[in-house]
Amino acid sequence: MSNPASPPAVDVLDERPGLTFPPGFLWGAATAAYQIEGAAAVDGRAPSIWDTFSHTEGRVVAGHTGDVACDHYHRLGDDVALMAELGLKSYRFSVSWSRVQPTGTGAANPGGLDFYRRLVDELLANGIEPWLTLYHWDLPQPLEDAGGWPARDTAARFADYTTLVADALGDRVRYWTTLNEPWCSAFLGYGSGVHAPGRTNGADAVRAGHHLMLGHGLAVQALRAARPTAEVGVTVNLYPVDPASDAPADRDAARRIDGLANRFFLDPLLRGSYPEDLVADLSTVTDFDHVRDGDLATISTPLDLVGVNYYSRHVVAAPVEGVEADPAPSCWPGSEDVRFVTRGVPVTDMGWEIDAPGLTETLRRVHGYTDLPLYVTENGSAFVDSVVDGQVDDVDRLAYFDAHLRAAHQAIDAGVPLRGYFAWSLMDNFEWAWGYTKRFGMIHVDYDSQVRTPKSSAKWYASVIRRNGLAA
Ligand code: NOJ
Repeated sequence: MSNPASPPAVDVLDERPGLTFPPGFLWGAATAAYQIEGAAAVDGRAPSIWDTFSHTEGRVVAGHTGDVACDHYHRLGDDVALMAELGLKSYRFSVSWSRVQPTGTGAANPGGLDFYRRLVDELLANGIEPWLTLYHWDLPQPLEDAGGWPARDTAARFADYTTLVADALGDRVRYWTTLNEPWCSAFLGYGSGVHAPGRTNGADAVRAGHHLMLGHGLAVQALRAARPTAEVGVTVNLYPVDPASDAPADRDAARRIDGLANRFFLDPLLRGSYPEDLVADLSTVTDFDHVRDGDLATISTPLDLVGVNYYSRHVVAAPVEGVEADPAPSCWPGSEDVRFVTRGVPVTDMGWEIDAPGLTETLRRVHGYTDLPLYVTENGSAFVDSVVDGQVDDVDRLAYFDAHLRAAHQAIDAGVPLRGYFAWSLMDNFEWAWGYTKRFGMIHVDYDSQVRTPKSSAKWYASVIRRNGLAA
């Protein structure tokens, strides 16, 4: 890495008065196993649903796969050294279930666990707090073959896997999150099918969402049994959902999408119930006969923290009368006909509207559910980067981070117990159905040479961490 202590290419900080975060604020960066590790068939790892999906023609842009990715599996030491140069206080990574328990059941694979032991030891040796996510979308393929997340048994399998990881790493990992973005696993994986396993059935998506949360609750209990001192939570991806106008039909569209995107998860996890309006909206899709007595108590097992991933806002409008709903498989079961509206505000390379105030709003909303400490476990942006004379001057990404950190600070000012922030992502990586075509990293990765080049945003973030704050 070039010297992060050298002046950032764009030093917003030096031009403005300071804005300080609370003492001990946990500054981090995040990644996920399938997106960076590569080494897909090494040391006993077997295929997950993302291996199968990415190797199926037409599923991922340009046929990209995670076979090699950032080759992080073989570059762990160098990558942790980069994190240390950035000054990260914490690193959020996920464990590949298929490395630890290749068939999804039975004994642990020592080779797989060893990689995570080495990673955690290296982090601790560098003074970086490991933040472990147990499930970031890569279900072992044999469990998908047995029914996947729509099948109830997968929740129990997840708890068993959690125990294996807790037994192996619980002595040195303090922060644990069970699921990453269960909305995506359920509704993109089983509803629209744009993510693995690529199934397209609304009822299955709803069942998957329930069993993911059930698995979460069982995993929390398994973690507590194995490691009573662990700090345990879950990461949900949330969006403010606004109606395009004040018209009652638009407001109803917003209520419906808010139900599916946000309250489907927040209410069971933090209140122990499904929202009645959501259940009614989904009545044409499922009768919720997959929910058994006691499930919601398990799902709402008390937590120590909540992780929020924030990227953008949804603005929606009522269906246009006389126009048929798009028959394409949808990630909004029962509400396929709601229209998503663009406002013409600046977007990232994903086409996602940039809306920093939405982060303040989202954090305040979650705080309305709970007094638990909150963490932004992901926030970031894809932009087209170019390497010029060995530098990547990613001013757009830097500005995105800057605006969202200000929004996070506003939430703190408003009384939200926000305790940390993880930039997505430490480095460019495999962006799921978009393959390597979208770059979210603060560190540029040349996928041919595997050379890492910290971008301007990385140098800037290092200075934010050093001062525990940014300019007002
Ligand atoms: C959410 C996911 O957790 C992560 O895997 C993904 O790369 C980013 N958002 C960007 O889409």
